[in-house]
Amino acid sequence: MTASSVSFPAAVLMAAIGMGWGIYMAISKDHSTMPAHAHLNLLGWVSLFLIGVFYRLHPVLDRSRVALVQAGVWIVATAVMTVGIALIMTGSEIGEPIAAVSSIVVFADMLLFGWLVVGNRQSGRADADMPLAAE
Ligand code: HEM
Repeated sequence: MTASSVSFPAAVLMAAIGMGWGIYMAISKDHSTMPAHAHLNLLGWVSLFLIGVFYRLHPVLDRSRVALVQAGVWIVATAVMTVGIALIMTGSEIGEPIAAVSSIVVFADMLLFGWLVVGNRQSGRADADMPLAAE
């Protein structure tokens, strides 16, 4: 199991849920949970898919445990954050601490991803890991 092989299907699943959510909002004419829909789509679909692309371009990193943990934390924290925001938008007070904690986890996980991106460049593995560049 690699980080990218987890990221891609999870991103597509979140896109499907996010789009279904969008269609529901449009049909019901109730856009109150729009911020949760937007965060699910942007963190869960767009960002996660881009994270997966980066890992796929760097096979050594892709197979590492730290990348798998980073992708796994991103998936779980994004799902929890989406629920938290949806709860806030529907008037549940419990949503606030859920969104607060999970957003900090997503933020910390982005710092970890940034560290992996920078570390990968500095170690000089970036180009060597790209099959097209090596050929
Ligand atoms: C079947 C696909 C989708 C449907 C039917 C849909 C539907 C909607 C609806 C009804 C709103 C509320 C608009 C408003 O109240 O002003 C909305 C907002 C939003 N959606 Fe989607 N959406 C879809 C896919 C996506 C995707 C793929 C993304 C991101 C990659 C996305 C990002 C956003 C954002 C950022 C907002 C907030 C826009 C704003 O601040 O005005 N949506 N969407």
